[in-house]
Amino acid sequence: MTLDATRRHYLMCRPTYFAVEYAINPWMDPSAPVDPALAMAQWETLRRTFLDLGHTVEEIEPVPGLPDMVFAANGATVVDGEVLAVQFRDPQRADEAPAYRSWFERAGYPVHEAKYVNEGEGDILLVGGMLLAGTGFRTAHAAHAQLQEVFGRPVVTLQLVDPRFYHLDTALCVLDDRTVAYLPEAFSPGSQAVLRRLFPDAVLADIADAEVFGLNAVSDGLNVVLPAQATGLATKLRERGYNTIGVDLSELLKAGGGPKCCTLVLREREASK
Ligand code: ARG
Repeated sequence: MTLDATRRHYLMCRPTYFAVEYAINPWMDPSAPVDPALAMAQWETLRRTFLDLGHTVEEIEPVPGLPDMVFAANGATVVDGEVLAVQFRDPQRADEAPAYRSWFERAGYPVHEAKYVNEGEGDILLVGGMLLAGTGFRTAHAAHAQLQEVFGRPVVTLQLVDPRFYHLDTALCVLDDRTVAYLPEAFSPGSQAVLRRLFPDAVLADIADAEVFGLNAVSDGLNVVLPAQATGLATKLRERGYNTIGVDLSELLKAGGGPKCCTLVLREREASK
């Protein structure tokens, strides 16, 4: 089977005010030093990588005092040109929600208000015609029903169980319309069974790859941008015919983020809708 790349439209936020000032996931240690210049250079390399692959990257203006705003995946969910706004679990990130919402309003997207906690593409991933939705740490289960109403796509709830993999995009990566890669033990037994049923040919990652945020990868259907440290997963992906591109986001990992966290997919309305 041949794999095809699709040109993507991404939204990113420059890490101008990036820092680790609080701890809302097990990766964050406010007493450990972060190198802001290195974080910026690493982020710039990620952006460049997307541009070199032929993708379009929009930028949202970073806001002072919002050190996690670089994680644009948490800014919204965008499907068929419609936006579901976010609502963060933690007060430290609450003000990112209106910042992202205004960006979308100014860009002319119809925006639906979030009724429950949902952290955007951190927990909500489109694969083929359906949405995979994580819960357990951040996004509330109740948000999954709103998702289904807003987007009119079937929503599959997946229960996350390991606090290190607190967002769905840290435990599962959509590779193309049919295939995902995931860390089985990051999910409850029932959710593991659901994933086996839906994706019998999935790429199974191991803990070593997940711990370096290997699953926090961005795929265009052929090219997979993932942390350079995730060498085992990269080998498995290449065996399946994907082209892997390693990037080093060591500074952003100190906040519990990787390539996918920095990247929000803007999906325009399809002609068939
Ligand atoms: N420090 C951020 C938080 O804990 C990291 C967010 C990572 N984003 C993601 N899409 N997984 O909320």
